[in-house]
Amino acid sequence: MMKGVPNFLLVTALLSLTACFVSAYDPSPLQDFCVAIDDPKSSVFVNGKFCKNPKLANANDFFFSGLQIPRNTSNPVGSTVTPVNVAQIAGLNTLGISLARIDFGPYGLNPPHTHPRGSEILTVLEGSLYVGFVTSNPDNRLITKVLNKGDVFVFPIGLIHFQFNVGYGNAVALAGLSSQNPGVITIANAVFGSNPPINPDVLSKAFQVDKKVIDYLQKQFWWDNN
Ligand SMILES: *[C@@H]1O[C@H](CO)[C@@H](O)[C@H](O)[C@H]1NC(C)=O
Repeated sequence: MMKGVPNFLLVTALLSLTACFVSAYDPSPLQDFCVAIDDPKSSVFVNGKFCKNPKLANANDFFFSGLQIPRNTSNPVGSTVTPVNVAQIAGLNTLGISLARIDFGPYGLNPPHTHPRGSEILTVLEGSLYVGFVTSNPDNRLITKVLNKGDVFVFPIGLIHFQFNVGYGNAVALAGLSSQNPGVITIANAVFGSNPPINPDVLSKAFQVDKKVIDYLQKQFWWDNN
C-alpha cells in the first residue's frame, strides 16, 4: 500500500481503469440513432462515422431485404455468409448489433474464425450443424455441440469457432452479433494467405512442421466465404 494515499483513492483509480476497458466495446449511443452517411456537409461527426441529420432519416436507413434468399455454396468450403451489418444498414451505426445468414451445402463448413469485436448467438433454421469454439490459452478447451433446427448456441467474443453441416442436405443458420461491425478473421486465410505472405521460417517454427508443409499451405487459394 502506498504511504499517504487513502484506500478509496486507489479503489477509485482501479475502477476508472476498469471503466477504460469497458469503453473498448461499441459505445452506447448518445442519441436515438446516427444513420451513417458519406457526405460531411449534411452531417455531424460522431463515433468515427458521420451521422445523417436525424430529420432526414427514413425507414430505408433501417431496412434490408433479401435475407430469405439462399446463397450459392459451390465454393471450396461449401458455405456462404451473408452479413447484414452497418455496411448494409447505415442505421446500425453506433447501435452495437448486427446479423448474418449462413448457408451451408451438404458437409459445408464455416471454417475456424473469430470476430474480434463481437459475441455471436446463432440459431439453426434448417439442417444440423456440428459447432464449437476453443477457449483461450492455456486451457484451449474445445466446447462443441450438434445443433438441430431451432437450437441456439453462443460463441463468446474473440474466440475461434466453426460450424460444420453434418447433414446430407443444405443447412441454414441466422447469427446475431454484438457489434455493428464485428469483423472476421478466418484463421487459415490470415495465417497462410496473408498479403504479403508471412516468412515461412516463422510459420515452420510456429506450427512445428517442415517448411515444405508451409510452402504447400501458402500456395493454396484460401477462399473467403464472407
Ligand atoms: C454457383 O456457383 C458456381 C461456381 O461459381 C457456378 O458454377 C454455379 O453455376 C452457381 N450456381 C447457381 C445456381 O448460380
